[in-house]
Amino acid sequence: MSLSIRPLTESGFAGEVSGIDLTRPLDPAEVRAIDDGMDRHGVLVFHGQRFTDETQMAFSRYFGELELSSGAELSKASERRPLQREMADISNLDAAGRLRTATDRLRLTALGNRLWHSDASFRAIPAKYSLLSARIIPGEGGNTEFADMRAAYDALDGELKTEIADLVTEHSNAYSREQIGFLKSDYGAENQAKLKPVRHRLVRFDPRTGRKSLYLSAHIGAVVDWPVPEGRMLIRELTEHAVQRQFVYAHAWKQWDLVIWDNRTTMHRARRYDDLHDVRDMRRTTIRGAGVTVSQEQQAA
Ligand code: OGA
Ligand code: MN
Repeated sequence: MSLSIRPLTESGFAGEVSGIDLTRPLDPAEVRAIDDGMDRHGVLVFHGQRFTDETQMAFSRYFGELELSSGAELSKASERRPLQREMADISNLDAAGRLRTATDRLRLTALGNRLWHSDASFRAIPAKYSLLSARIIPGEGGNTEFADMRAAYDALDGELKTEIADLVTEHSNAYSREQIGFLKSDYGAENQAKLKPVRHRLVRFDPRTGRKSLYLSAHIGAVVDWPVPEGRMLIRELTEHAVQRQFVYAHAWKQWDLVIWDNRTTMHRARRYDDLHDVRDMRRTTIRGAGVTVSQEQQAA
């Protein structure tokens, strides 16, 4: 096995992997090396991976069960390209493969990806890894930024660590979309149940590495048992802390890059590009997490 990993930042957050072709079958030692690299770096970048949707799904399955795309849940099939349900369409193309126009509903919903978030944190069992494959990249812009939630946690002062140790937060897609002007009613009566908030621990412990991390996301709308404005201000302050430059790696995409991030220990956001004129076609597969982050009793409370 000739796989090697070079850290992309001084802190060691994010690593660039070379010496492996992910489009062919992998052996268990290679899968283990990637998992170990994820535990160490939180984000891994691979270049020159010429995936099809089929080979991307096959590679992704080495790391667990695939989630069905949430975009597919909150939109009609006629609004989207006919991809497999495990493929999240992170592009600016409509069902006919044309650029989405300025007022296109799904274009506007997708702008929520520019808020710092953790994928699928609005699910009771949230995502483990996300794997994003760059099929077509724009001429300019469209970076993706990643923030290290383990380093951000470590850098909090002791008093704040104690104060937040056992807090539980509420996550919903409705909260992140509310920040960019959507109303719950914009999603239609048939989707309201999918917007019901789920609860997660604010501080997660990772038994693999023995480290804690801040579990933040634009999908958070409340801290349980706190007045809403106070909870939102705490989340805003923690988020401002966590996305300071020393915790961030900015990825400038090349065509056929694959980037894997761990949603349990990182946040990410998309940066702007000229999406009305320039095609950006990215495809994401998402690995389901192992379980809930708070007990079922707390979940139901
Ligand atoms: C995602 C996402 C960011 C981007 O795929 O989950 O947030 O830059 N993407 O497209
Ligand atoms: Mn995302």
